[in-house]
Amino acid sequence: MAKLTLKDLDLKNKTVLVRADFNVPQDTSLNITDDTRIRSTVPTLQYILDNGAKKLVIMSHLGRPDGQAMAKYSLKPVAARLKELLGQDVLFLNDCVGVDIKQEIDNSKEKVILLENLRFHAEEEANDANFAKRLASLADVFVNDAFGTAHRAHASTEGVTHFLKSAAGFLLEKEIKYLGGAVSNPQKPFMVILGGAKVSDKIGVIQNLLPKCDAIIVGGGMAYTFLKAQGVEIGNSRLEKEKLGLAKSILEQAKKLNKAVLLPIDHVVVDNIDPAAKTEIVGQDIPVGKIAVDIGPKTIKLFEDKLSLAKTIVWNGPLGIFEMDAFSKGTLEVAKFISGLKTTSIIGGGDTAAAMAKFNLEDKMSHISTGGGASLEFLEGKSLPGIAALTEK
Ligand code: 3PG
Repeated sequence: MAKLTLKDLDLKNKTVLVRADFNVPQDTSLNITDDTRIRSTVPTLQYILDNGAKKLVIMSHLGRPDGQAMAKYSLKPVAARLKELLGQDVLFLNDCVGVDIKQEIDNSKEKVILLENLRFHAEEEANDANFAKRLASLADVFVNDAFGTAHRAHASTEGVTHFLKSAAGFLLEKEIKYLGGAVSNPQKPFMVILGGAKVSDKIGVIQNLLPKCDAIIVGGGMAYTFLKAQGVEIGNSRLEKEKLGLAKSILEQAKKLNKAVLLPIDHVVVDNIDPAAKTEIVGQDIPVGKIAVDIGPKTIKLFEDKLSLAKTIVWNGPLGIFEMDAFSKGTLEVAKFISGLKTTSIIGGGDTAAAMAKFNLEDKMSHISTGGGASLEFLEGKSLPGIAALTEK
């Protein structure tokens, strides 16, 4: 990697400032419902602690409080989970900048300190230089492990790097290794599975990866705009009318480049989107009034046959409404199939990561990104400010 990484730093007796992405989902009682992002940062935190750091100061955002301190966006519940995961006390401070905060860090008997939500200050998202300087003044060196926030040029991701030597943490490094490797130098055949509701969310990824991949496999809600563009009847299935022209031109471009685009050839359909709705399997044309909610068995087979040839698979977006068990079979079967292949399998974050967690297949994939928006932007080939700003080796 061209950037400094954690192992390049001398941590002895240093106060180390780590930007993590602890933007984790919580229920209404503020219990953390998925701690993946916290667990994924533990190797970085543990390494810092094991390599002589004086203090470890961790900062993150949670939700979008828009510059206001709000109890429901406090990072306090994360401090408790972190304590369990690290097996040592974590001092939680109720702000992230200020003279008091600096003193509390210097005087703390705890080695690990978690600061309150950065976004309680509007200066964080504004990438205010003075705010970044105040964050930087808390430590001697900076480590960014917040891949999920690397697409944001905020004070804690970009601004702070102007004041401290800045290195990538292990999680950031791993994300770059897998996602970057797939984008710049994939082992071929390289296949991309795209799903999710909207074509518009995936245009950038298609444009960047179509020339690099051997095939694109399309499922989920976005498939119906592509099918409609080919003249297939889609009933009441999801359609982005204004994207029909674009879908058509993507299909034409794929043809010119000699790339396969696989679309569903059969579907699970319902009358209404309801977990208890009666389902039916239909062929490629969808009857009037019916809504497609998942790919059908022939499509599963078609996709699996193609994927069996792949050496690298990138998957972003579920193939049906997997959150409802009755419509999850397509996503589940394809995920199980991939998990049995000797293939590099990279799962873009967000919904697809949630699907793998639901199916208990997380450990069976080569890499599951902790970034939602960040992994999409990475796959679109964009430079992520949180990575670009790190100190060159
Ligand atoms: C995410 O969950 O995608 C990241 O934590 C970034 O959050 P944001 O979209 O509110 O910047």
